[in-house]
Amino acid sequence: MEKMWAGRFAEALDKEADDFNSSISFDCKMYREDIRGSMAHATMLGARGIISEADVEVILGGLASILADLESGALAFDMDCEDIHMFVEAELTKRIGDAGKRLHTARSRNDQVALDVRLYLREQTGEIVVLLRELLAAVVDKAEENKSVIMPGYTHLQRAQPITFGHHLLAYAMMLMRDVGRMEDAVKRMNQSPLGSCALAGTTYDTDREMVARALGFDGITMNSLDGVSDRDFCVELMSAYAIAMMHLSRFSEEIILWSSWEFKFVELSDAYTTGSSIMPQKKNPDMAELVRGKTGRVYGNLMALLTTLKGLPLAYNKDMQEDKEAVFDSIATLKKCLSVFAPMIATMRVNVQNMYRAAQGGFINATDLADYLVKKGMPFRAAYKTVGQIVALCIEKKTVLDDLPLDEYRKHSELFAEDLYGSISLETCVEKRISAGGTGKASVEAQIACVRAFLAGK
Ligand code: ARG
Repeated sequence: MEKMWAGRFAEALDKEADDFNSSISFDCKMYREDIRGSMAHATMLGARGIISEADVEVILGGLASILADLESGALAFDMDCEDIHMFVEAELTKRIGDAGKRLHTARSRNDQVALDVRLYLREQTGEIVVLLRELLAAVVDKAEENKSVIMPGYTHLQRAQPITFGHHLLAYAMMLMRDVGRMEDAVKRMNQSPLGSCALAGTTYDTDREMVARALGFDGITMNSLDGVSDRDFCVELMSAYAIAMMHLSRFSEEIILWSSWEFKFVELSDAYTTGSSIMPQKKNPDMAELVRGKTGRVYGNLMALLTTLKGLPLAYNKDMQEDKEAVFDSIATLKKCLSVFAPMIATMRVNVQNMYRAAQGGFINATDLADYLVKKGMPFRAAYKTVGQIVALCIEKKTVLDDLPLDEYRKHSELFAEDLYGSISLETCVEKRISAGGTGKASVEAQIACVRAFLAGK
């Protein structure tokens, strides 16, 4: 096939170089955006008298028929075309003749691709946000069901203080809400139309960039034509938002993997989201969670790849930038798949309330509360901390726990101890007394649930 740019060349492009150069195998994903952008561009060219209204009509009809045929499968992408932009233009000209050749007036593939990627990322990020919200809904439902279920809270993966499982899950809800916010912020910043920047310097035609921008749902236009065609910071920003979301899913996965081990047995995943072993008949493996954790690496890698690609590029467009698409498309596809399995995996996860409670009974998890007990009776915190440390050491020696140590043993350490100490260190009290805003106490957990529900309701 003769290249659209063949005019100044005497020889044809080498076959292997042609394949190397071609991007249609992946940028064909953006056919809807490409056609939509061309429709808005043609309409503007007509409105400004740059091409005739008759040509606009034929172009719009031709583009609509190409779109319909691609959607129905009647038309296949021609892999001999260099990219999606060339494919659509060539097909249009094939269908409508000369009018098709007028479409590219006052436009370059450089502003065209910058436009298509923005439109595509806006759409895809919207879909990711829907999936994030579905996961958030599953997480908040699970949190509500488990708002009074006591488990050990950890630091350094050592039992630290008792919390509720609801409170633990809500920590992830907070992260997911910020993920949504980060993506929406990035989309907002990205939502400026670059079309009309042309190759790099703008155009001599009297175009109306604002009109195109409005037609395509942008908030405005990019103000510098070099920047419009050559920056991909919006890809980097969204890819880092995707990477951060993956990081959250990966940490959550890690906990689910730990919790479903025999050692913890805090949760059991549904059979629908686990797999067996080919040799060990007893195995029930949390593969989905492991894959989410594993795929986080490639989403980080995509971000690093694009940052590295962009770092040395002189203005304006360089072909290196064609590398943006496979990276960003892969991050999108990966995140979408992960979110799609994660939400139902959480929704169907069974919680082992007894095991969580039993784990919370060990590890001297109520030691801080015992120190607080002394503080409330007048002892300075540091002194109380030391006293309780000694009592913990005694319990370890006697192979007992704080709850079972007799009062006379306590009173050897401090006269401040009285019978009421036992009530004040029960796991239920430890949780209920944590009334500070954002803590694991009931009112805070309910406030968190209400906050997530309001977010989901769009309030
Ligand atoms: N396929 C190209 C890309 O993805 C489109 C822009 C080509 N522009 C050019 N001057 N060769 O970046």
